This record gives sequence, C-alpha cells and structure tokens, in this order.
Amino acid sequence: MPVISIRSFDDRDNQNMLEIERLCPQGDENCALGVDKKDIIARYKMYDNWDVFVAEEEGKIAGWIGLTVKPASNRNGKYAYITEVMVHPVFRRSGVATKLVKEAEEKALEMGSSYTYSYIYESNNASKSLFGKLGYSRVGEIKTPAIPTYKKLDIPPEYSIKLIDKTEIVDAVGLINKYNSGFMHFLPFEAQTFEARLKSVPWYGSENFWVVRGENNKIVACAGLWDSSKLADIYYAREPTAMKIMRSIFGVLNHITKVPKVTSEGENLELLYIADYAFDKRQPEAMLALLKHLSNLSIDMDQDYLMTAVDPEDGFLAVMKKLKLQIETWSIFAKSFEGDLPAFNPFYVDIKDMIP
Ligand SMILES: CC(C)(COP(=O)(O)OP(=O)(O)OC[C@H]1O[C@@H](n2cnc3c(N)ncnc32)[C@H](O)[C@@H]1OP(=O)(O)O)[C@@H](O)C(=O)NCCC(=O)NCCS
Repeated sequence: MPVISIRSFDDRDNQNMLEIERLCPQGDENCALGVDKKDIIARYKMYDNWDVFVAEEEGKIAGWIGLTVKPASNRNGKYAYITEVMVHPVFRRSGVATKLVKEAEEKALEMGSSYTYSYIYESNNASKSLFGKLGYSRVGEIKTPAIPTYKKLDIPPEYSIKLIDKTEIVDAVGLINKYNSGFMHFLPFEAQTFEARLKSVPWYGSENFWVVRGENNKIVACAGLWDSSKLADIYYAREPTAMKIMRSIFGVLNHITKVPKVTSEGENLELLYIADYAFDKRQPEAMLALLKHLSNLSIDMDQDYLMTAVDPEDGFLAVMKKLKLQIETWSIFAKSFEGDLPAFNPFYVDIKDMIP
C-alpha cells in the first residue's frame, strides 16, 4: 500500500498546489466556494510565524495544511489558527487530512499553543465531520455580510468623511481599541503597531482608510478597504439556489431599474474587504454614512461587493443591515490542548484569517 509522508512546504510546490486548490471547492454539491490564487504562500507572509505541511505519496502532492501561532491577550498565552487543509480529490477518504491536522496540532503544541481553531464554511459538511472526528467542537460562528454596490447613495451632510491623516492615527486607534474591547482574540493597537499593520497587509494602507468626524469635530467612525482579491479571488464553484433565483429576478428588473450584479457560477466575485471598522456606539448613523461613502467608492472602483467578517452580535452587522445585504455563515471549530476552551464570543475576526 502506498505510504503518505509529510514534509514542510517548498517554494517549488507552489504551482502544483495552485492547481490542486482549483479542484478543492469548500462546500457540498449545492453550494461551494472556490479559491483562485496566484501564490499559495502570499497570505502566510502577513503573519509573524507560520508553517505549511505537505502530504506526499510517491512524490505526488496529496494535500497540505497551514497554521499560524498567535499571542493571546493574556500575554503569556498562545493559540493556533489552522488556515486551511486541502486534499486532492484522488487522495480523499484515506486519512490524509487526518494525518495533516495531527501534524499541525503537534506543531501548534510545540510552539506553546493551548488551543487551535479554524473557520468552516456553512455547507462544508466534509470538513465539519473531519474536525468533529478529531475532537473539535463548534464553539461559535461568524457572519460574512456582503453589500452589493450598484447604486450611488446619498451621504448625510452632517458628517465629514476624509482619508486618514497621520496626525489622526492616535484618535482612530483609540476608537478601534474601545470598540473591540472585550472581544475574544483582540489585541489593542498602539499608533505604531496600527501604522505597521496598514503598511504590512498588502493592498491595504493609509491611502485606503477613512475617518468620519461628527459634531465637535471628533472622530466618531472609521474603516479601511482592503483589496484582498489581490491575494485570493473567490468564486462560487457551485452557486447557492438563492443566487440563481436572484439572477433570474434581477435579469427581468434590469430593464427598468438599477439592480445588483449577481456573479455567475465560476466567475470571480469582485469585492473589497471592510477592515478595522469602529464607531462611537452612540452614533451608528456615522458608521452608516461611512458605509455609504465606501459603497460609492466601490462602484467607482468597478467592484460589486463590500464584504466583511463579524461576530453575529457585533453592532457593525446591525449597521450594515440598514443596507441591502447577502449574509453567509462560517462555523468556528476549536480544540483545547489543556483544560476548557475559552468563550468564543464576542469574537474579533482577524482580517488576515479571512483569505480562504
Ligand atoms: C475536507 C477534506 C480536507 C477531507 O480530506 P480527506 O483526506 O478526505 O479526509 P480524511 O480521509 O482524513 O477523513 C477523515 C474523516 O473526515 C470525514 N469526512 C471526510 N470527507 C468527508 C465527506 N466528503 N463527507 C463526510 N465526511 C467526510 C469522515 O468522518 C472521515 O472519516 P471516514 O473516512 O472514516 O468516514 C477534503 O474533502 C477537501 O480537501 N475538501 C475541499 C477543501 C476543504 O473544504 N478544505 C477544508 C477547509 S476548512
């Protein structure tokens, strides 16, 4: 019987892995998301440390797994995020993913993690079953709301919305820290660490970050736009029925009014990611004004959606719901190496983790 061996990723694996990823949509026969990248490792370069392990059978890549270890807010603690696990269709159901997850867990433990977690797309029953069998439990969920951007929106005149200026970073960081305080996995920024983040996440930067000033000229809302598609395009490999229905309705309405574009199966979703949003919780209207501004920019940039990832209880979701939305769900699966798992809500989503 052929033997599966596991080794570290090598740059020469990249092309092969890109081709395999194309064969690995996440989901079931009715709804599955596909990912199209130009570089498998680009997403990992955003992390301070990471590892990718490749499973091989007689020199052929059968699959791989990636992980990154992060510092917890209690300073000494660490935890690991399993970024992805992929197995070539030919090698499935023979224990390859099981072997890879165990390898990643060993690495996570060795690096001092007390637990691991992963996000699993709503319709990805294979993955849910895989992680369930390996002792993971569903500890919560995150929502990925997407605003179709197709019609320019009016912005209330009482708000001034501008690109952030260097002198405003301290105030914006104060707002972001306050907004996310108490959210699981959130580590407060300092002006310097936030500036470094804006620079180090590719296709983000201060030239894509806006602040809103309200009465008294105080910063009351902020958010950035990240073109994550430069790292990974996503598409529906199998389009959910709701989308098919929507397309046929919009196809008719299209003749009489402006309607959202419904992306076809296999076609990349043109979207921008809303990052580092925060607002004064007494002034959700300021955040809504900024969302409308970002929506208008998205149209100017020929993008079809503004998307983000949030805890279902995050007040930002309630603001987004004031606009038309399509919402999907990802489960959070986690496993503890020692003692009980911490509570996963309210939960802060690290945008870097959202490259599928
Ligand atoms: C999910 C995936 C990684 C599983 O890989 P695999 O090597 O076939 O998994 P294993 O052989 O180790 O399976 C272990 C267990 O997981 C569960 N499982 C795996 N595939 C399954 C499927 N298609 N349906 C139901 N359960 C499944 C089973 O419980 C299985 O045990 P069993 O074969 O004894 O019944 C693979 O299907 C894949 O690459 N899918 C596309 C990419 C993806 O969704 N990745 C996960 C993103 S979080």
